[in-house]
Amino acid sequence: MRLILLGPPGAGKGTQAKRLEERYRIAQISTGDMLRAEVKSGSELGAKAKAIMESGALVPDGIVTAMLAKRVQQPDCERGFILDGFPRTVPQAEALDVMLREQKMDLDHVVELAVDDGALVERIAGRFTCAKCGEGYHDSFKKPARAGVCDVCGSTEFTRRADDKAETVAARLDAYHRQTAPLLPFYKAQGKLKQVDGMAEMDEVTRQLAAILGTPGGS
Ligand code: AP5
Repeated sequence: MRLILLGPPGAGKGTQAKRLEERYRIAQISTGDMLRAEVKSGSELGAKAKAIMESGALVPDGIVTAMLAKRVQQPDCERGFILDGFPRTVPQAEALDVMLREQKMDLDHVVELAVDDGALVERIAGRFTCAKCGEGYHDSFKKPARAGVCDVCGSTEFTRRADDKAETVAARLDAYHRQTAPLLPFYKAQGKLKQVDGMAEMDEVTRQLAAILGTPGGS
């Protein structure tokens, strides 16, 4: 199964993609995570991406598309993948169409996580991640069972993203509305677009997604 999760920053794409990855045993591909790994590694690409990401703007299409083209050829993508944060512009979506056609792959679903902009700043500002295993948390919506200790690996170190400051979030939302929202009519015209209520509780969003995607291993 190959699918795209669409939605603005903080809509819950990463949260849901991780759940779907486990449920359907397909790879989560987050271009944001891939770019952050490049920044952390100190690569030339990372150096180019860092300032752009911290300003809230989008990294140039050519860079992200080339990165994605390599990633979908990895063995863990054979059973399928969830694209989380890609495509983000119409040229990226067009490049993806070409890429899939060349590799004789189909895109099964494009699902929009529909949310109100007003909720997003709170969601993003409250987000933090385990520095060791990457498990995601939230100050209000998903606290670790024991304060200050990761539920998954027991680490006591957490990080917050450099682009999660309120002023950067405003720029990211603006980029979403100007550059990414045009993908909704793009995929609607292809007859692929579905929607779930991203304002619902996390488990309910997962339930709505599962209703669209069907039973793991089923047709
Ligand atoms: P990226 O890493 O993709 O960030 P984003 O799209 O801005 O999305 P987020 O990760 O902020 O949010 P999310 O929807 O995954 O929400 P989450 O599940 O964490 O991109 C970062 C940057 O990289 C971009 O700005 C750009 O510069 C660059 N980039 C990446 N891809 C690119 C591309 N293709 N082209 C060009 N540039 C690119 O949830 C948020 C919080 O809310 C969490 O704390 C979570 O616990 C909580 N939450 C989730 N769901 C719910 C719920 N239902 N109810 C209550 N709380 C919830």
